[in-house]
Amino acid sequence: MFTSFIVLIILDSSFGFIKYDTGLLKVYDYEVSSFNCQNGFSKTATINFAGTFENQPQVFFYLEKIDLERAELEFKLSITTITVTSFQTLISCAKYRVYRTQIRWFAIDDQRIEVINNFNMINPDDKTFQIKNPNAQYGFLTLTSIHFTGQIDFQLSISSITTNSATVTITKVSGKFANLKQIGYQLVVGVQEAFINLGLMTPTGGFSSGALPIQTNRWFFIALQGLNYNYADNIRIETLFTNTATTLSYTFGAWQGVTETPNRHSQIWIAYQFTYSYKALECFSVRTSRREAFDLTILPPIYLELVSLNQIYTTIGNYNYIINKSVQPVNIVILLGCPNGKKVKAEFNKCNSCSTQKFYSITYNCFNKMNYVGFYPVFKQAFQQYNQLKINMQSSSLEITQVLYDQKITEQLIIKVQILNQ
Ligand SMILES: *[C@@H]1O[C@H](CO)[C@@H](O)[C@H](O)[C@H]1NC(C)=O
Repeated sequence: MFTSFIVLIILDSSFGFIKYDTGLLKVYDYEVSSFNCQNGFSKTATINFAGTFENQPQVFFYLEKIDLERAELEFKLSITTITVTSFQTLISCAKYRVYRTQIRWFAIDDQRIEVINNFNMINPDDKTFQIKNPNAQYGFLTLTSIHFTGQIDFQLSISSITTNSATVTITKVSGKFANLKQIGYQLVVGVQEAFINLGLMTPTGGFSSGALPIQTNRWFFIALQGLNYNYADNIRIETLFTNTATTLSYTFGAWQGVTETPNRHSQIWIAYQFTYSYKALECFSVRTSRREAFDLTILPPIYLELVSLNQIYTTIGNYNYIINKSVQPVNIVILLGCPNGKKVKAEFNKCNSCSTQKFYSITYNCFNKMNYVGFYPVFKQAFQQYNQLKINMQSSSLEITQVLYDQKITEQLIIKVQILNQ
């Protein structure tokens, strides 16, 4: 009895965390009497998650219903803090009134998605952001705030994504762009599986999405990325959903007797559960060589080559390298001097899922006739991906660690070569 009680507590503490959550924030709405957002008014809101996350989640959102007064409007909106149990937002309205901004929010504890905030950007312009996950090669943008002084016509888009950065551009329609004083947005990037993008919609008024098949383990997201606003009435978008068991559809109708503001948005299904797991490179063959070098002092103590990538390291130091996903398998050459009386021990990650015998392990004793040792490991991956390596080269050791962005960020040793005393 007593033992099983203990086991239950241990299970609970490791599996009790939530991994994702979503909701609709409705307090920034004129129907809430205290919300009179104009002339310098501001209001924070704290949103509690349905449970506790293990790590601070990433939070992103879209504006599901907006009603922004005509004449100069300056509203700012941002996420100010995120904890494992809640997040906080701050809205402020410097001039005319924001009648409502209903916020559909999403929180996820998964590194296959990366959220980059660019809240309340004054003097909007193109901008490049650093990204961490080299496999986050897909993405979208979602408008979060705006300040305009007249007619506006703009569209945000991701013009390029590399393994370490993403560039957001904004169209600049002459005569109108100057009226756009501030915009905020979130850039959300992710791995291929993260998003199903149904494409850009450009409604000029009333809009009906038609029935969209519901995707399992995915959220539906309306990524507002542009407005074409004639400055004649309020900016209004009211998203109304009609769902069946298998489909979802939404409309932008008429509101207060006027059709809604022409806009540009993308329809995206976002994964909150993933099937592809990012794992370290596994070594499936390793050839070795031993020979005599007459003068070890003229050779680098350790020579590392990433074959077919033109990457050679011979100097002590720490290096980062991202192996292009088109390179498969990954061939590596390691050559090192093995002075008389020492031994060399080499280990190569063989099996990610094994609990024992995870490494190929090779040890040679060194002597004068065999004082130069080579290892030629070949690595494979479960599926095509960029592999991010951290290389630590010392005079008598080499360690290569792989950085993995999966549900969590982890670092896993894949190569370790050391010169040791016999
Ligand atoms: C990866 O390799 C392919 C094919 O050689 C090349 O077209 C592409 O530009 C490379 N990608 C990066 C990020 O270097």
